[in-house]
Amino acid sequence: FNVPPAFNEPVKSYAPGSPEREAVQQQYKAYYNGQADIPMWIGGEEVRTGNTRDIAPPHDHQHKVGQYHLAGKAEAEKAISTALEARDSWAALPWEERAAVFLKAAELIAGPYRARINAATMMAQSKTIHQAEIDAACELIDFLRFNVEFMAGIYKDQPESAEGIWNRVEYRALEGFVYAITPFNFTAIAGNLPASAALMGNAVVWKPSDHQVFSAQVIVEVFREAGLPGGVINTVFGDPVMITNTVLEHPDFSGLHFTGSTQVFKNLWKQIGTNIERYKTYPRIVGETGGKDFIIAHPTAPVAQVATAITRGAFELQGQKCSAASRVYLPKSTANAILDRVKADIASFNKPGSPEDMSNFVTAVIHEGAFDKLASYIDRAKADADAEIFAGGGYDKSVGYFIEPTVILTTDPHYVTMETELFGPVVTVYVYEDDQWEATLKLVDETSEYALTGAVLSGDRYAIAQATRALENCAGNFYVNDKPTGAVVGQQPFGGARASGTNDKAGSAQNLLRWVSPRLIKETF
Ligand code: ALA
Repeated sequence: FNVPPAFNEPVKSYAPGSPEREAVQQQYKAYYNGQADIPMWIGGEEVRTGNTRDIAPPHDHQHKVGQYHLAGKAEAEKAISTALEARDSWAALPWEERAAVFLKAAELIAGPYRARINAATMMAQSKTIHQAEIDAACELIDFLRFNVEFMAGIYKDQPESAEGIWNRVEYRALEGFVYAITPFNFTAIAGNLPASAALMGNAVVWKPSDHQVFSAQVIVEVFREAGLPGGVINTVFGDPVMITNTVLEHPDFSGLHFTGSTQVFKNLWKQIGTNIERYKTYPRIVGETGGKDFIIAHPTAPVAQVATAITRGAFELQGQKCSAASRVYLPKSTANAILDRVKADIASFNKPGSPEDMSNFVTAVIHEGAFDKLASYIDRAKADADAEIFAGGGYDKSVGYFIEPTVILTTDPHYVTMETELFGPVVTVYVYEDDQWEATLKLVDETSEYALTGAVLSGDRYAIAQATRALENCAGNFYVNDKPTGAVVGQQPFGGARASGTNDKAGSAQNLLRWVSPRLIKETF
């Protein structure tokens, strides 16, 4: 169980004049001026169906940068059958061989593929270079490295034996194949969901988001170069209903590794329930879904610290993190000072623009549907009597899907944007009376349909203890005196409860344990 000690990949700065900045800018230009033709990868073969969809950057939606090929039913079925063919020999490999593939993948991303995976993430997911670097490079590398360490820890965990008896556990892969459905917002999650199941010996059918195919292709290239055998991870693009129906009707479907919306996850769970008689085993269902993540500041919290937590927590990556702060509770005594700082932060940013300009802090939201939804809630806040736009509020989709960082102020703690997940750079603030701290904690709990992340900021230890207890069911990741985003693999295992998911912590041994079916062997001598 001797594996290289995992460590967090250092985040590069991309300072002007640095070689990494030069490399990523060149790669971005090459992608922008190129015409990528992205195949699926099924059974180790590149599959082009000729039925394609265009890819355009969200910040420049009239400019095509490539196309990807869509699966028909035949390709979905092929992905399943090749996964099943690959499964036995992959699962039977010594675990060190599987680990070595993913450790090699981590080093490829850290080195030769870093500029490619970052530029692809900037291009098609509209991430700034910093947001790409902490996700597509560092977090994905961290998942790959730390999962190997967690795996070794799992295998090492063996029962006691007794005189004349040897008890041992084999951590076998699931019988069948795993289905990974991944989101657009984190390239690291997209890579980790298939890779973590594959590391434990499973073969995977992977359906990336249509809006992440560009960087998914780089992940596939990395896995191929790292020596992942064909058929272990198979990509299928396109019609989610057809692909999902094909997968979930298969008797060998044995697990779902999902990150995406709450409603889609609930529908998948129901569909799995409906199909339960078809399956050879009870499928593992692991999902990380929506959030309505909060920041609550106590009157003793330092103004600047709260303002930074709001600005960074709500607006980095245009608020499209499942962990993003989207509702904020401020005490009356410091609310104006905090809000003025947030407004000044927003005023200091460039107008939302392309990530190619590395001085931009805010770029585009992912697609027109997201843009239209956000714009409609902003308009509603402009019209409603119990809400006002305190900062931002502008939007323009003529070139890219640009929404200004926006602060809505409401007098109603149940106002629609205090309770509805918007998934964009819009945060809603409610100001409470200072003497209503405990009542406000209760209010946060009562309005937490989701329970992904949350943050309390306070200079008072007793208030922190109160919040930690009162909000224990409101956030799977709870931050004290910090923003609610930016979990680091190996440090803050990530996941939420209630409507936010099954809380099987990405980046932990607990998650990897969902992808094995242990067999206990008792041998008597
Ligand atoms: N790991 C991401 C974060 O914590 C989701 O922001």
